[in-house]
Amino acid sequence: MTIRNLDDLLAEGVSGRRVLVRADLNVPLDKQTGAITDDGRIRAVLPTLTALTGAGAKVVVFSHLGRPKGAPDPQFSLRPVAARLGELLGAQVRFAEDTVGESARSTVDALADGEVALLENLRFNKGETSKDEAERGAFADQLAALGEAYVDDAFGAVHRKHASVFDVPARLPHVAGRLVLREVEVLAKLTGEPERPYVVVLGGSKVSDKLAVIEALLPKVDRLLIGGGMCFTFLKAQGHEVGTSLLEEEMVETCRNLLERADGKILLPVDVVAADAFAPDAAHDTVRSDAIPSHRLGLDIGPETVAGFAAALADAKTIFWNGPMGVFEMAAFANGTRGVAEAITKADAFSVVGGGDSAAAVRALGLDESSFGHISTGGGASLEYLEGKTLPGIAALED
Ligand code: 3PG
Ligand code: MG
Repeated sequence: MTIRNLDDLLAEGVSGRRVLVRADLNVPLDKQTGAITDDGRIRAVLPTLTALTGAGAKVVVFSHLGRPKGAPDPQFSLRPVAARLGELLGAQVRFAEDTVGESARSTVDALADGEVALLENLRFNKGETSKDEAERGAFADQLAALGEAYVDDAFGAVHRKHASVFDVPARLPHVAGRLVLREVEVLAKLTGEPERPYVVVLGGSKVSDKLAVIEALLPKVDRLLIGGGMCFTFLKAQGHEVGTSLLEEEMVETCRNLLERADGKILLPVDVVAADAFAPDAAHDTVRSDAIPSHRLGLDIGPETVAGFAAALADAKTIFWNGPMGVFEMAAFANGTRGVAEAITKADAFSVVGGGDSAAAVRALGLDESSFGHISTGGGASLEYLEGKTLPGIAALED
């Protein structure tokens, strides 16, 4: 199986050609103001876009944003993203008010060589996410008609069997963009023969989201450190009471079973920061993880846990981290995530930060991005890759 990449397309010559670029510009927005709170995903696609514009292509970018329900919904408009993309490119980005309609066609027609257009949110169209092949295919036909070649640079969406990810490449010459290529190279290192010790840090709120990756990773890793909201279901499985902490009761048995099979590889918090309420100013204390008061909920891992996790990371040669250790958006509950992130940067290891929230946490906490080996733009996508699943967006690029 081979996947052609952007250099192959550039070698053919793209000057004056309409090139479609599927990007993942699904950036977090401030709930009140709608402002972009982290533009990492926009910046991540710039190398592909500038390579194409520099070669004189007419670049047509499309993306999803949020989860609108197949119809236009102003709160999920990509218009602010077009503005930010234009600032970062230092060039005007033409914005089409629909995805495959009159606005899209005239916007694409008006493109001069080396210019960029961004189409409105793909998910304003039912066909994009439809499970019905014919409905998805019909939408893909319309998308494909806008361009002459297709570049997938939307790593964060390669695990979705959506029209723009899976069906458009079947209709046009297709290549992987710079970002997708780099992401896949990095993750392939982790699934191949990672240098040891190989330590994985998992956080985030739900065990159920992470179960498949835990199953897949357990035989491969030397240590698996678990924090975040999901640790409480594991603590419960160890027989501890967790107060009003996040708990997936139906997963307790599964966690107990995982702990039994883990051969001591799984490390859980020994102390947690427990609060009266889920609020930035809630009263809180550090407590032993086997003594969480019944009226309190754990919102972060405690300092002794941070020290233990840091020790477990110190000699690592390969690290993968997905999911915050606590509610890092609230200063009182950010120390766990910060401490673990710092320990990762201190290790003399190849470190990969897996997507979405953890990448945003790195930037929100003001940590130096360059001290990590790689910061993935895909949360779900990187986890599914590590699970060994076939990713529809990658499969669609193979010839
Ligand atoms: C993400 O943020 O995880 C990607 O952009 C995919 O979005 P989705 O989970 O809504 O498909
Ligand atoms: Mg997601």
